[in-house]
Amino acid sequence: NEVAIGIDIGGTNTKFGLVNHRGEILQKGSLKTTGYDKVEDFIDELYNKIKTLVDMHPEVSVRGVGVGAPNANYYKGTIEHAPNLSWKGVVPFAKLITEKFEKPCSITNDANAAALGEMMYGAARGMRDFIMITLGTGVGSGIISNGQLIYGHDGFAGELGHTIVKPGGRRHWSTDSEGSLEAYASASGISITAKKLRAEFPSSILNDFPEDEINSQTVFECAEKGDDIAKEVFRYTGQILGEALANFVMFSSPEAILLFGGVIKAGDYILKPTKLHMEKNLLPIFRNKVKLVTSELDEADAAILGASALVWEK
Ligand code: BGC
Ligand code: NA
Repeated sequence: NEVAIGIDIGGTNTKFGLVNHRGEILQKGSLKTTGYDKVEDFIDELYNKIKTLVDMHPEVSVRGVGVGAPNANYYKGTIEHAPNLSWKGVVPFAKLITEKFEKPCSITNDANAAALGEMMYGAARGMRDFIMITLGTGVGSGIISNGQLIYGHDGFAGELGHTIVKPGGRRHWSTDSEGSLEAYASASGISITAKKLRAEFPSSILNDFPEDEINSQTVFECAEKGDDIAKEVFRYTGQILGEALANFVMFSSPEAILLFGGVIKAGDYILKPTKLHMEKNLLPIFRNKVKLVTSELDEADAAILGASALVWEK
């Protein structure tokens, strides 16, 4: 009756669950990732929350902990220089978790974990070549090639969110790059685009919201009410995303691209232009072959499941 603890650390929220061998989540919970200056304080809070869940199941024993996190290194068990987390530098995250939880811990990139989760239990079952793109606080990716995650020489491979899609374009808020996919297609990027556009078009109902309420959800609401500027926010983002996806397709020839994250709730407002501009920019040999799929699993579940899968692997 063993379970694994799967943890998905996002730039804004962290979600966790108790998962059995079959990929069934017995319990889950969440906490905010933000507001902790010290990673140890965050881990203490995480431990307390998870302990409450574990105590509700005296029948199970915990085998280990699997973590998906931004800028995580599977080989080294670290989280390094994450642009969207408050703990800077190189954090020996797996070691800290092992000390606190007294269990073995494996860690991988959050989008890699989501890719694993979808491959084992979700929309990518049976696929051997696909790319997971997560559109959240940041833009993450997990590249599965020949049935395996690409880790690369140093364990960080697949940081597609930081590839440059508009040379000389928008400056990233915490790296030095200009024109990265993340600067446009993340939740933060979409808010920036929406704020710029609404300033140019005073008649847009996007102007009815206070500054801090401009996000992909409110932009979606405005689009649903017929606001052309709100629709343009998604069209513009979708174009950039589609062009980026064309590059990624030509790099690794996936069977499908899985899109994941709150931004995707905007549905066709973003998916149509994404597909259009992906296809348009593909070499004919790749055209009309790559499925654009939205995640089958619940938002966070894919990453929790993928992270928990790391535990059984060992
Ligand atoms: C990080 C990635 C992460 C993504 C989503 C990016 O800023 O560099 O490692 O997967 O955000 O959290
Ligand atoms: Na990755």
